[in-house]
Amino acid sequence: MEFRVEAESLARVTAKAAILFVPKGADVASLVKDAGPGFVGAARTVAARETFTGAGGQVVALHDKPGARIETVVLAGIGDKGDADVLRAAAGEAIRCARDAGAKTVAAVLPDAKNAAAAAETVVEGLRLGLYVFEGYKADKTKRAVDAITLLAPKAKLAAARAGAEEGQVLADSVLLVRDLGNEPGNVCTPTYLADCAVAMGKKHGVDVRVLERADMAALGMGSLLGVARGSAQPPKLILMTWEPKGVKGKVDTVAVVGKGLTFDSGGISLKPGDKMEDMKFDMCGGAAVIGVMQAVARLNLPLRVVGLVPASENLPDADAFKPGDILKASNGTTIEIVNTDAEGRLILADALAYATKHLSPKPSAIIDMATLTGACVVALGSACAGLVSNDDRLAARLSAAGDASGDPVWRLPLKDKYREQIKSVYADIRNSAGREAGALTAAAFLERFVAGTPWAHLDIAGTAWTDTNKATSSRGATGFGVRVVTRCLQAWHRK
Ligand code: BES
Ligand code: MN
Ligand code: ZN
Repeated sequence: MEFRVEAESLARVTAKAAILFVPKGADVASLVKDAGPGFVGAARTVAARETFTGAGGQVVALHDKPGARIETVVLAGIGDKGDADVLRAAAGEAIRCARDAGAKTVAAVLPDAKNAAAAAETVVEGLRLGLYVFEGYKADKTKRAVDAITLLAPKAKLAAARAGAEEGQVLADSVLLVRDLGNEPGNVCTPTYLADCAVAMGKKHGVDVRVLERADMAALGMGSLLGVARGSAQPPKLILMTWEPKGVKGKVDTVAVVGKGLTFDSGGISLKPGDKMEDMKFDMCGGAAVIGVMQAVARLNLPLRVVGLVPASENLPDADAFKPGDILKASNGTTIEIVNTDAEGRLILADALAYATKHLSPKPSAIIDMATLTGACVVALGSACAGLVSNDDRLAARLSAAGDASGDPVWRLPLKDKYREQIKSVYADIRNSAGREAGALTAAAFLERFVAGTPWAHLDIAGTAWTDTNKATSSRGATGFGVRVVTRCLQAWHRK
């Protein structure tokens, strides 16, 4: 799809459809008249009947006769609070409406805003995310597609709008990469496939990528990750991606970003029930989000060192699979009693976190992990936000702020001694499950054992990584959650 930002006016532009973002209470008739006189009557009608008031979430299409300069105007309400989430959603709904009306070329008018760059970025994100479909495996594809979008900005704000739009493209591309990876079925998206995608991403964007194989991990003593992989014929991978900032003088921080890359989670010997087990192909979305973050960080040319780590494995039951009662030894020396092989995400993350603290130089000043870790987090927070658990108030505050601003909201949950107690084991240092009580938090307390005191934040994205319902900016399937919050956080890193 072609995308341009121009200082053209709606009165001159030629496009099959135009999108107008309308604040609550605005005079719709005067807004549409530049699109063509044919829209004014219809605009008066929807305003008079109050079928369209500009409230956030409202989208209405007005049609002129075929062959008119602009055939369809899509009115998208954006409310009166200047809320970025509302604007993003309005862009997503509106572009789908234009597409479904058959428009191949669309002009969208940048809404009036103090910060034109931020508005352009939000709109571009909404447009791109709203158009996403994953249907490569279907014979019956969506027939209609938008080929070209022009964002219309006032001349005085053109440069800002172009810069913002470019950032929006970077974030959208990265989110969509994660969606594609998440939506791929488990028989295609294996640990090897994830590693190959990371290598391809690295080549394209100047990120150094190395992949540790089973033998490398064995040499490093990664008994926890390798224990999980034993039930699968697919070889596990530990994907290491490094972004070295270019042309930055002086000392820069290193931040490690770790993601769970469990390409299919059957539960293992502690087999999951069959209902919805197919969703467990999404159990690699945290790992995919790390690949997306690395791509975004490189394309935004961020001035800090970022190391992405993705432990990737399947979790299947087989003759050689790990079992409840087994004791595994992680690479930091911690012994782990397995009480449930379905609590495998923390096991593969354990060795990746330990690697981040032991083998990176310089040492990371912070670690952020993303994982579809617990059903308990889904029960607690649903799909409204991801769970955030941290041993560092400042890092937690940074992520909370980035979450609110980015469209990937997070909510902090506590890390109490009680949860640290709960994971103690009779036979080993710790056990990998402490039952149902505070399940999201005992999981976090488990991860904490592997960060060696480094400032660390854990995002449990189990409820946000995929969706069963079509929303304004995400269709059914993987959402790409995590890319935006973490990229935003890293972008603001040196603004202390
Ligand atoms: N991948 C799952 C968590 C999950 C479940 C995410 C449902 C999204 C939807 C994870 O590996 C898991 O199975 N966790 C167990 C842990 C339990 C055995 C301690 C869970 O949450 O039930
Ligand atoms: Mn599991
Ligand atoms: Zn899992």
